[in-house]
Amino acid sequence: MFGKMLDFKQDGQRVTVTFVEKEVMISVYTSTIWNVFVSMDGSIQESNAIEGNKMLDTAVKVEQIEDHLEISTDQVTAKIYDDCKIDFYDGAGNLKCEDYRGERKYQSILSQEMIDLAKQEGHDLGMREDFHYKIEVVKSVCADECFYGLGDKTGFLNKRGYDYEMWNTDNPMPHEDNFKVLYKSIPFFMSQSSRGTYGIFFDNSYHSYFDMAKENDAYCFFGADEGNLDYYYFGADGFKEIIKDYTYLTGRTPLPQLWTLGYQQSRWGYVTENDVREVASKMREFRIPCDVIHLDIDYMQGYRVFTWNKDRYKDPKQTISDLAKDGFKIVTIIDPGVKKDEDYYIYQEGVEHDYFAKTPKGEIYENVVWPGTSVYPDFGQRRVQEWWSDKHKFLVDMGVRGIWNDMNEPASFEGELPPEVVFHDHDKETTHAKIHNVYGHLMCQATYEGMRKYDKRRPFVITRACYSGTQKYSTAWTGDNHSLWSHLRMAIPQLCNLGLSGMNYVGTDIGGFGSDTTKELLCRWIQVGIFSPLCRNHAAAVRKQEPWQFDTETADIYRKYVELRYQLIPYLYDLFKETQSTGLPMIRPLILEYPEDAAARQLNDEFMFGSSILAAPVVEQGQTARMVYLPEGTWVDYHTGETILGPIRFIKDAPLDICPIYLKAGSIIPNYTVQNYIGEKEQSTLILQVIKGNGTYYHYQDDGESFAYENGVYNEYKFTITDQGLFTAEMTASGYKNRYKKLKVVYENREVLIDILEGDHWSVLL
Ligand code: GLC
Repeated sequence: MFGKMLDFKQDGQRVTVTFVEKEVMISVYTSTIWNVFVSMDGSIQESNAIEGNKMLDTAVKVEQIEDHLEISTDQVTAKIYDDCKIDFYDGAGNLKCEDYRGERKYQSILSQEMIDLAKQEGHDLGMREDFHYKIEVVKSVCADECFYGLGDKTGFLNKRGYDYEMWNTDNPMPHEDNFKVLYKSIPFFMSQSSRGTYGIFFDNSYHSYFDMAKENDAYCFFGADEGNLDYYYFGADGFKEIIKDYTYLTGRTPLPQLWTLGYQQSRWGYVTENDVREVASKMREFRIPCDVIHLDIDYMQGYRVFTWNKDRYKDPKQTISDLAKDGFKIVTIIDPGVKKDEDYYIYQEGVEHDYFAKTPKGEIYENVVWPGTSVYPDFGQRRVQEWWSDKHKFLVDMGVRGIWNDMNEPASFEGELPPEVVFHDHDKETTHAKIHNVYGHLMCQATYEGMRKYDKRRPFVITRACYSGTQKYSTAWTGDNHSLWSHLRMAIPQLCNLGLSGMNYVGTDIGGFGSDTTKELLCRWIQVGIFSPLCRNHAAAVRKQEPWQFDTETADIYRKYVELRYQLIPYLYDLFKETQSTGLPMIRPLILEYPEDAAARQLNDEFMFGSSILAAPVVEQGQTARMVYLPEGTWVDYHTGETILGPIRFIKDAPLDICPIYLKAGSIIPNYTVQNYIGEKEQSTLILQVIKGNGTYYHYQDDGESFAYENGVYNEYKFTITDQGLFTAEMTASGYKNRYKKLKVVYENREVLIDILEGDHWSVLL
């Protein structure tokens, strides 16, 4: 690639290396975040994922040494050779990530005869012609290397041996392990091997390709046919540090409103005001805590966004306000497709101001989505984003508290939008080919800004389509899964990999969206769902799957787990606080907490919820016991209180009402009392579940709603426990006036109440 290295020029933290064919710019953002950029299409470097200048002052040394150029910070060295081969080392000189030197080649080639034969029956043997992408970076792979990340891809935790593409796609067929694309494009992955760890973010929004050592065991590669060669290398030590760096670059999930952590009920089928009121009253009747009801497309007038159907709702504002009195918040769906209708104000405004995407001939481009013939706002223009943001006033005035952005891949029922449809990117004319993967991202940004402007509180946005960086604006769900056991199984690695990819406020449709659920599947799904940051039951027009639709046992099991979620709300909120400052996910694969543990690398059916709780849910039909793996350390069975020493594998009985859960020694887990909705009961006593051992825990408290915390209006409590049972509590920040009155410490079957209204330091021997 690019021929012989001729020359180089250093300009501060940027080094431009001239090869025979191209100039390659290597930029040091921080000592561990590096960028490699080559303009392949003549355009300048621009990103939709990264906002603002992320370059931090870093000392950079550049030296020409014999056949190569060496660029170093205190933590990373890059050695650059002819043909633009770049190898990355750590500060101690250990090779971490190496460009592959051979030619790309299929490891096993089937004979043409075999391929032709199979084609007759319609088989696709997955063999591509021998070809190269215009932009292609090939990295060598070690025997024990595992790959993680890549957003919402199907399949398993470790992505090694699979290939994927980035092209946001709405495919309602059951998502299988061999799917290459889904709704999101998060072109970021991390590698772990005996060489250590590294991360790569390929910031190219065109259709891109990732082969994780599938074609050949000796290498992995990523590439695209359009756009620029623009990738970031993350050389920090360990996944936690790499995630911190990746989310420093692309942004972090901001602290949400507290109620958004509550249980959410949805269905494509709550058509009328009465349907919604009935769901709300049933939630309370069955005493299943619930904070949110989602309104799918039926609340609108003929699926016209920013309208409300007055035949189905006599007075929507009144309905929303009545429900609010009982603690329910309403979230409404908004799709990007605007109905083509000369009498509809959104369409009229868009046409008048030229807000919609065009054909190359200059006509407004049309396709079909739910409202019928529809047009697409051109969110790559700032003025279009601002217009869209402003439209949210209509919903905020109505009392709506959150927005659910759907169909924003963008979806289209009459074939995909042709690549040449004219959009804008950073206000410059471009094509659908470039904007497609960031379309949902730009829509979420507009929605976030609109909600922030009119609602003033921390915006709650949910999206289906994403690009890297969408975590700054929106939460996400994994789209149209099905009520299949394979989809429940997949939920765990899928949510874990989304979290490893910076997108950590995520969830699946609990119970499954398409196909009919069963009592057993629903019970098992909620046991996973309560640990998903976004906890929403949603379904299509299939068998009803609200928790009361089966029998008393189902409702009881469902309640038991939703109640556990509500008890854990302060713990979950602490995890959000941690995410905001580190980017670390709430739902974590074991590999994140136990990087040295080989058994954790491929574990698909267990996960950590923060660093204190391990869940090993049952995800197989008919199973009433399962193999549990606990890593090194002492663990306590949440249900029985039994102490177990890891590392260990054992069989745990798990009848339908049991999701095996383990708490780590030395954990301090804050709990609230169960309530019908967040804020129903004043939580003036913080319950602390303290597990014997040594540990320190920071607990965060604020008004759970406003941005006042940005100005110091919050409390922080530091709790410690020693092996001898000495518990101490300390206020490390006290800017929020509503501090707890008491702590209730629960320790080995004992409860101790500590009055904390006065002073800022307390200790007790438990
Ligand atoms: C899409 C969404 C789904 C929604 C439906 C109707 O399929 O993924 O969640 O219910 O559209 O709006």
